[in-house]
Amino acid sequence: MSKVDQWQKIYSAKPTEKLGWYKPRMQISLNWIEKLELAADVPIIDVGGGASTLVDDLIEAGYRSNTVLDISKHALSSAKARLGEKQKLVTWIDADITVVELLPCQYELWHDRAMFHFLISPERSQKYLDNLFQALKPGGHVIIGTFAPEAPKMCSGLPVRRYSLEELQNTIGGDFELMRHDKELHITPGGIEQMYLYCHFRRKT
Ligand SMILES: C[S@@+](CC[C@H](N)C(=O)[O-])C[C@H]1O[C@@H](n2cnc3c(N)ncnc32)[C@H](O)[C@@H]1O
Repeated sequence: MSKVDQWQKIYSAKPTEKLGWYKPRMQISLNWIEKLELAADVPIIDVGGGASTLVDDLIEAGYRSNTVLDISKHALSSAKARLGEKQKLVTWIDADITVVELLPCQYELWHDRAMFHFLISPERSQKYLDNLFQALKPGGHVIIGTFAPEAPKMCSGLPVRRYSLEELQNTIGGDFELMRHDKELHITPGGIEQMYLYCHFRRKT
């Protein structure tokens, strides 16, 4: 099954709120974004944003240049339906981050909760990182949440790569400075414990 079909199937099996990773509010991300004191018009992308409510809260907080990229049309349609008229305030990119080529220096903030860790092959994770380097402005911010070593090896029936702080730092590389990090225990609607590692990196040049 293709990656697109895999994710379409996962999203069509259950309502959004019953999916393993569902969180009504991305509180750590929102707290960290608030601390950045970004201007309202800075371009922000949520990579693998799916049907996440982060974009709703960013709009509510006044950010005017929001993009959500996801491989699943189904997920993007759910987010659009929830936002109603406000969906017009968002740029929606229906694409695989390991295939699409993003334009250079487009974004001031790259957000990803629970997408990167599904890229278990070195080739696919490198394609993701190539896009990150291409599309993030110098001085730009990355907020990324992945499974931590204590988390299960699978999520929604798919294998994931779990990252310690050191592993994530090494993976993202020396061009980024670690600004803050935290862990959060997420309990899925089915009661499974998933420990997340969140990191905020800043691109040096
Ligand atoms: C575990 S969900 C997390 C969704 C959202 N970030 C959240 O925290 O609610 C992973 C998301 O990544 C998307 N995804 C998986 N592989 C992808 C890829 N290669 N390119 C773009 N999106 C991808 C899935 O469709 C899904 O929406």
